[in-house]
This record gives sequence, C-alpha cells and structure tokens, in this order.
Amino acid sequence: MTQALRKPEPIVTVTEEAPDVSGAEFRRSVLAGLAAAPKTLEAKHFYDARGSKLFDAITELEEYYPTRAEAALLRHHAGAIADFVGAGASLIEFGSGSSVKTRILLDALPDLACYVPIDISGTHLKATAGALARDYAFPVVPLHADYTRDFALPERVPAAGRAGFFPGSTIGNFDRAAAVAFLQGARRLLGDGARFLVGADLQKDEDRLIAAYDDAEGVTATFNLNLLRRINRELDGTFDLAAFRHEARYDAQLGRIEMHLVSRRLQAATVAGQRFDFADGESIHTENSYKYTLESFADLARQGGWRVAAQWRDPEGLFSLHGLVAE
Ligand code: AVI
Repeated sequence: MTQALRKPEPIVTVTEEAPDVSGAEFRRSVLAGLAAAPKTLEAKHFYDARGSKLFDAITELEEYYPTRAEAALLRHHAGAIADFVGAGASLIEFGSGSSVKTRILLDALPDLACYVPIDISGTHLKATAGALARDYAFPVVPLHADYTRDFALPERVPAAGRAGFFPGSTIGNFDRAAAVAFLQGARRLLGDGARFLVGADLQKDEDRLIAAYDDAEGVTATFNLNLLRRINRELDGTFDLAAFRHEARYDAQLGRIEMHLVSRRLQAATVAGQRFDFADGESIHTENSYKYTLESFADLARQGGWRVAAQWRDPEGLFSLHGLVAE
C-alpha cells in the first residue's frame, strides 16, 4: 500500500567523467590572458558557484530583457517549437545553468527520450538536474563538461533523434570563428538528422543595450568583478577589487557589447606567483556579447553546417529563436 503511494526515485545519473575545467585550465587561461596585450579574461570563467548565482540575479533585472523575451517566445510558440524538436527526441542543452527556461520547453515535450543538461559548473548542474528529475518522467542525464571543447555524449543517449538546445544568446559570447566552430562541433555531436534550437539576442539601440549590461543596482558590475575574486581565491591572486571598475561598451561596427574591468590607478597584482602591471585606466576585456539580425544569424548557422528551418522573434524585435536542421 504505502509503496504504491511513494513517489518513485528520481532518475538522475551523475555523470560520466567530469573534465578538469577549473584547475590547470583556469590557471593557464588566466595567466595567458593577463600576459596578452590588451589584457583579456575568458568569459566562461565567470561561472563559479557565486558567478552562476550572480548571473541568475542578472536574468531577473528589469534592464536585462533577453531572459524574459526568450521565455515569452518559448511560451508563445511552445506548440510549434515542440513540433520542431520532434516527439521522442533526446534533448541536449549546452550550458544549462539553472535551466529555468528549459522548464518551459520541457513542459511542451512530455515524450522526450531523455534530457541531457551540460554545464561547466558541477555544483549548479547537480542541483538543477536533481530538481528536474523529480519533476519530469523522462530520464535526466547531467553531463559536467566544457562544451566549447570536444566531448562525447553518454552512451545511453540514442544516436537518432537528437535535438540540441542552446538558449540565452550564449552563442553571442563567442566571436565569429568560435561560434562557427561551436556550431560545427554541435553538428558532429548531434549527428545526421539532428535539430538545434538556438537563442540569439538581436541588434537594437545602444542605450537599451548598455543599460542591460550596466544595471542600476550594480549586479552586472559585481558579476564582472567576481572574476577577480575567483582568481584571488583559486590562483592565489592579490587583486584589490576596489581598484577596478566595471564598464560596458557598445561597438556598433562589430555589433557587440563589451565588458571590461578598468584599473582605477597605476597598480600591480600577482597571480600564481606572476606579477602583472596595470596603467591607470587600463582595462581587462572580460566579455563580448554579439547581437545579430535574423539574416546575420542565418548566415552564421549555414557556416556552422546548419540550415535555418524556422525563426521566431518577439513583436518588439528584442530577441530571436532559430530552429536549425543539420545539413
Ligand atoms: C550568458 N550570456 C549570454 C550573457 C550575455 O548577455 O552575454 C552573459 C552576461 N554578461 C553580462 N550580463 C549577462
């Protein structure tokens, strides 16, 4: 009796081999970026546990429209998007984060073969996957990986009927060559006949873009500065966080928002025993966020080995979702 009433155990398999995405690779990447001219840090390193939480807070800001606009698109077009993904598909999400938007999609796809969230932050992934597995009937197979590198899907994910999901305009954080390489990699990973649903932020007026990346509450500033805090903690860094300020710039020519950490004075910091000097006003370039048009995104997708089968955009023209089919 009691047995029949008990909720079944959630089907979560915590992965396969987790690659070392934080240790040696983080050190190598940070030291190389700070030694470069101009100085850069890779945006993928924002997402330690605190960074992931700060990013979640960004997505709820009034000024940060992309998350709301994309969620509205997923809700409005749930039926057509579910048809596009196909019944019985395996849904593979690149960079699942807290998978808030995923739930809108998953609600429209009750017959999935399985859902595979992939994320660079293991802690975040575990929590998210556990919650999803409790709420949905299909298996949830989390994969801890850096999806900008080559990796394999767990064997239990069927080779046929794979559909990728890459929401949030994260593709906008890649420059063109990296975006094409990512799309080509996803094409290889997902295989023939695959479908791919990709979210991309759209070009719009500069004021709106700047406000989205330099909010009044300073959450984005804290998110940006958290990278220095992470370096201090994990790489024995000596950055004085108060001596850097967050700056968002828009490059209309390149169609991208840039985030920078600008030194407030002449100073030096050490990281993993190496010294780096900063001039007053010198910046560390921490992120690019490219904004597309429907045409420029279709062109990018073609170069990455995909054909655009459908495009959805909100009436205000803020955000877009692209239904791609493997060529
Ligand atoms: C994750 N990515 C799509 C965000 C963006 O809009 O480029 C990251 C972000 N950076 C600052 N705010 C949000």
